[in-house]
Amino acid sequence: MSNQTRVRKAVFPVAGLGTRFLPATKASPKEMLPVVDKPLIQYAVEEAYEAGIRDMIFVTGRSKRAIEDHFDTAYELENELERAGKHAMLDLVRSIAPADMNCLFVRQPRSLGLGHAVLCAEPLVGNEPFAVILADDLMTGEAGGPGVMAQMTTAFQKQGRSLLAVQEVPLSHTKRYGIVKGEAAGGPLMRIDEIVEKPAPEKAPSRMGVAGRYVLTPRIFEEIRNQPQGVGGEIQLTDAIERLMKHETVYAFQYQGKRYDCGSKEGFLEATVELALQHPDVGEHFRDYLKNLSI
Ligand code: UTP
Repeated sequence: MSNQTRVRKAVFPVAGLGTRFLPATKASPKEMLPVVDKPLIQYAVEEAYEAGIRDMIFVTGRSKRAIEDHFDTAYELENELERAGKHAMLDLVRSIAPADMNCLFVRQPRSLGLGHAVLCAEPLVGNEPFAVILADDLMTGEAGGPGVMAQMTTAFQKQGRSLLAVQEVPLSHTKRYGIVKGEAAGGPLMRIDEIVEKPAPEKAPSRMGVAGRYVLTPRIFEEIRNQPQGVGGEIQLTDAIERLMKHETVYAFQYQGKRYDCGSKEGFLEATVELALQHPDVGEHFRDYLKNLSI
């Protein structure tokens, strides 16, 4: 497999302000909000690791120290667990950052938008394809099947062109997404010929919304660099993708699995309930508890 089709690096933009989740996100990152017992960012990193990615690049900002600490060695905690003979817990803590995984951090000095956050990772990505994972979109594959990023890196190995994860969204929700229109290109792929950031329902070219998973070719950096500010004064990744489409084919990828928008309270609650029901330790108890609620 050549370096042109092998995805070795993932970028996690975690420098957003998380205003939809205030006051929880005033002093701590929204990516550290736990769903059952794991923070959102850990679900995202595990998804990348499962896809064979080993270099995890975090684009951080103010109040994001907890993310760095989460993936660092916690000597005192580990010593304490070892001393107490809590070996299962010790393994759990150590498994957060396996020995063959590299965590790299770069700072986005101001929240200038997702496109700008991705550009901040350029010195660490270099001239090779890379994944972008938005941890506030928690994605689960189908039971027993590969995760969403693993599905995408497998598809990328075959055709070497940028991929955006998409799903059908209700017409009334188009304003929350980048919306794409394109032609079927075999299996889960659609060749995109139009992409619009957060259109009103009457302006949306389709109901195919972009979810927070991308595999991008390095040409995207040049497109972001040369791009003026877009919707909301931010440097939008969607605008750069639109420019990229003038030079390279870009595909939409209809993934197998489910997405929870954990940047919103509703999505976060849905993820919490569904993942709690599937959890090996608490699932059974939680199911009984829900059944007995009078709602
Ligand atoms: P969102 O649109 O969800 O923005 O960003 P946000 O600031 O995180 O949250 P709200 O809307 O204020 O509640 C999408 C993703 O892009 C990252 C965010 O961390 C999130 O993962 N992002 C956004 C950055 O890293 N930098 C930015 O300047 C903007």
